[in-house]
Amino acid sequence: MILEKRDFISPRTITNLPQTDAEGAALLKEYAAVLPSYRGAMKKACAKFEVLDDEFRMLYERAPIHHIEQRIKSPESLLRKMRRKGLPMTLEAMKEGVRDIAGIRIVCAYLDDIYCLAEMLVKQDDVTLLRRRDYVANPKESGYRGLHLLITLPVHLASQKLIVPVEVQLRTIAMDSWATLEHELQYKNASVLPAHFADQLRMCAETASVLDRNMQSIMQQIECHADVPQEDGEEK
Ligand code: GTP
Ligand code: MG
Repeated sequence: MILEKRDFISPRTITNLPQTDAEGAALLKEYAAVLPSYRGAMKKACAKFEVLDDEFRMLYERAPIHHIEQRIKSPESLLRKMRRKGLPMTLEAMKEGVRDIAGIRIVCAYLDDIYCLAEMLVKQDDVTLLRRRDYVANPKESGYRGLHLLITLPVHLASQKLIVPVEVQLRTIAMDSWATLEHELQYKNASVLPAHFADQLRMCAETASVLDRNMQSIMQQIECHADVPQEDGEEK
């Protein structure tokens, strides 16, 4: 199941945005023109995970992916990020400096599925891994966990082939629940929450992490149990 996180962005949506500066407006026009390549890369990346999930189901009778989310960065968020990073409002600066225009999130059943799927993705010969950040092994200060890959993929357009970046976030269901709720409460908010709330959120992230480890262990035990021949000689 793929969830589309934002509305379809068309040239009309972009030109209808309230503009604060001419530079930003000019960039957004160019942004609309390059969006098909980013959408193409996003869809291709999702398709790769769907294929892996499908094959996994056939081989092991289990789906490693709970759901997938895909989104293209909104025009507002693009301009905000470029300003925050102090980038010039040019297409070149955008392509170099903003690598998460196409983003997908793979929400997995179990902890091991994250690493297994990531490995299978980056082994594919049309995928290039540019960056890997393991916030599962090294959680962020907030408690955030997830495995982030920055990859590039070739996208074939009408008259050219482009190599396009996609940010892939892999999380478990527990990590995703935590991140979704924490985001609502605090992440990217202008006002900073008092420290004791941050502590409580970090503790919740720990709880989610314990849950992940326990669920993984129970699943493995059940699989081993199913593999052991039962008394009547039949496998369960
Ligand atoms: P951005 O400029 O925010 O995109 O950061 P970045 O490109 O350096 O990437 P990073 O690896 O820090 O990951 C950013 C993304 O991870 C965010 O857009 C969120 O989806 C997610 N993320 C990172 N930290 C947190 C956090 O503390 N809480 C939540 N809820 N999400 C987080
Ligand atoms: Mg990012």
